Amino acid sequence: SFDPDKLSRPEMFDFHGVCMTHFFTDNWENIQNFQARPDDILIATYPKAGTTWVSYILDLLYFGQIERQTSIPIFERVPFLELIVPSFGSGKDLADNLLTSPRLIKTHFPFQFVPKSFWEQNCRVIYVARNAKDNMVSYFHFDRMNRIQPEPGEWSSYIHRFMEGKMVFGSWYDHVNGWWKKKQTYSKLHYMFYEDLIEDTGREIDKLCSFLGLSPSVEEKKRVTSGVQFDNMKKDDMANYSTNFVMDFKISPFMRKGKVGDWKNHFTVAQSEQFDEDYKKKMKNSTLQFRTEI
Ligand code: A3P
Repeated sequence: SFDPDKLSRPEMFDFHGVCMTHFFTDNWENIQNFQARPDDILIATYPKAGTTWVSYILDLLYFGQIERQTSIPIFERVPFLELIVPSFGSGKDLADNLLTSPRLIKTHFPFQFVPKSFWEQNCRVIYVARNAKDNMVSYFHFDRMNRIQPEPGEWSSYIHRFMEGKMVFGSWYDHVNGWWKKKQTYSKLHYMFYEDLIEDTGREIDKLCSFLGLSPSVEEKKRVTSGVQFDNMKKDDMANYSTNFVMDFKISPFMRKGKVGDWKNHFTVAQSEQFDEDYKKKMKNSTLQFRTEI
């Protein structure tokens, strides 16, 4: 049987040029051979950019039935493709065994790691990006509470690790830019922003629906929009990860704040200036624009 106390914090290593841990590389061969179906929908993000939120929106749009919503945790409805925890199971097996159609599948891979079958089958892909500072803050608290992530250490050093791309799933800068470039050549990619979702969830759901070819009734849309509000998801045990064994909620909740601009409570003025200066250099060739407040 599975004992979460036996989990130990993993080492990070370079994997094809990206910082990773074994929990996301041990199943590499099987993942690369994953057989996507044309109606599969891939939800791709850098960790902590709003994966769960968008997963929940899609799950409600497609499968809003009460039984499902009250009995199956979101991480089982939307399997995390590359996750493998020894003696527990793999996201790839969960995905293979999904009975729903379409299958909703989550990944944190940079675009170049995505199994080629998704591209060959011309699957719809949704990418969610979040501004670097809030993304980092969220990742920091997640690394504190998640037993299968490396310890974050001090905040002041964490900022430097982030800037150097020494995070699980690599550099935020490479991730958001890599996927942004992919969008130029792959038309079935919908690139969206956490800040836009916060600003106007209904508008972003409309855009998602038009990308997915869905036309929910006014009632249905209302149900989805209110169901996915932060406070509702926070108290919903099927959405808030409280049934998950790798996380220690005594340290920090999964549904932590759900805000734009929480970085201001973490960065000192000097840290923020140093970060911004480095950010300008790293992003100088990018047309991507993020908002750090709304
Ligand atoms: P914070 O730590 O800033 O609160 P992911 O799902 O990719 O791991 O991202 C988790 C982040 O998304 C957390 O950010 C979490 O609170 C936030 N989040 C999840 N559901 C949300 C919702 N319905 N509204 C706003 N933010 C949400």
